[in-house]
Amino acid sequence: MPYLDQIQLRGKRVLVRSDLNVPIDQGTIRDDNRIRASVPTYEHILNQGAALVICSHMGKPKGDKDPSLSLRPVADRLQELLGRKVKMAPDCVGDEVKSMADALQPGQVLLLENLRFHSGETKNDPEFSRQLGSLAEVYVDDAFGVVHRAHASVVGVTEHVDSACAGLLLQKEVEYLGKAMADPDHPFVLVAGGAKVSTKLGILTNLLDTVDRIIVGGAMANTFLRSMGVQVGSSKVEEDLIDQALQTMQTARSKGVSFYLPVDCLTAADIKAAQPSGVFPFQDVPREEMILDIGPATHTLFAEVLRDAKTVVWNGPMGAFENPSFSQGSVGLAQSVAKVDGLTIVGGGDTDALVHTCGLVDSMSFISTGGGSFLEFLEGKKLPGIQALGL
Ligand code: 3PG
Repeated sequence: MPYLDQIQLRGKRVLVRSDLNVPIDQGTIRDDNRIRASVPTYEHILNQGAALVICSHMGKPKGDKDPSLSLRPVADRLQELLGRKVKMAPDCVGDEVKSMADALQPGQVLLLENLRFHSGETKNDPEFSRQLGSLAEVYVDDAFGVVHRAHASVVGVTEHVDSACAGLLLQKEVEYLGKAMADPDHPFVLVAGGAKVSTKLGILTNLLDTVDRIIVGGAMANTFLRSMGVQVGSSKVEEDLIDQALQTMQTARSKGVSFYLPVDCLTAADIKAAQPSGVFPFQDVPREEMILDIGPATHTLFAEVLRDAKTVVWNGPMGAFENPSFSQGSVGLAQSVAKVDGLTIVGGGDTDALVHTCGLVDSMSFISTGGGSFLEFLEGKKLPGIQALGL
């Protein structure tokens, strides 16, 4: 596997593709986790005596130069974290950027402007890939968050550099997730939450031969409950997936995998409600109300399912946790996962934010920086960014 520590970097110019797509509110970074997670790779490269060119996307500008999606605030934050000057390029390709990259000395850092300001990025355009590749001799992919995207800075660029490898963050992601999928300690509990069954069915199906227990919570549990004939009030249900949900539970049972769904819930007529209407067992959910969190009995049940786990993979909150009235189920689950004496892997933007808010980061073995890529990795899909490195 081509990893960063196997490549001679001294005196070279190194282009690192990171995922610095962080939430920015009027120029202020609201969550710098992805920037922090990228720093060890940058420090390794700089300490080896190389010049560093960093590139990333931000949002989905679709080829337009939208100033609100500039990476400039990231350059400022990076400068603080690295404790050295980070030059900001006016663009990511073109003559001026090429001159800036060529002039870079060992130990110096240049951050390119948002790759998606050019439509060639998402189209994996060969000419755009060539221009990116011309900025360095070595290419390092450290952007786990986009390894599922066949974009120029992820795939095409690898054909235009002398050598290409995975960075320290990408290596860590692949090793942690790979261990859980290929060689997990048992009992292995998969916890799936969040809004949509459609985004999680692939994982549930792919891991049915690997896990011992599955916990399903969040709005996606409604579709599973409905498939068993349970009334879920006015909660969202993915009608077209009811049959598949039932089939997944039946397959799990036939394979000896225990499948746990919520047994009680908190409801309200509005997701913004200042407080829940009450705690209900499922047969009593009021017709005109939505299920917005798991109830206390469910919390106790899920905590028990997790108690002796040796591997846990968790993606997706248990309810509408952004509203403090409905955050208790998700916070309780985070606390239960944090107590597990084994490998605990957390992934997805919402789950990541939740664990940070609860102050439980240090209690988890690993928090993935991936969102869609985390899900696709666990689905067992071949990911273009990983394939491009020959991994
Ligand atoms: C993410 O936030 O999941 C990554 O940065 C990928 O972003 P994308 O879905 O716009 O490709």
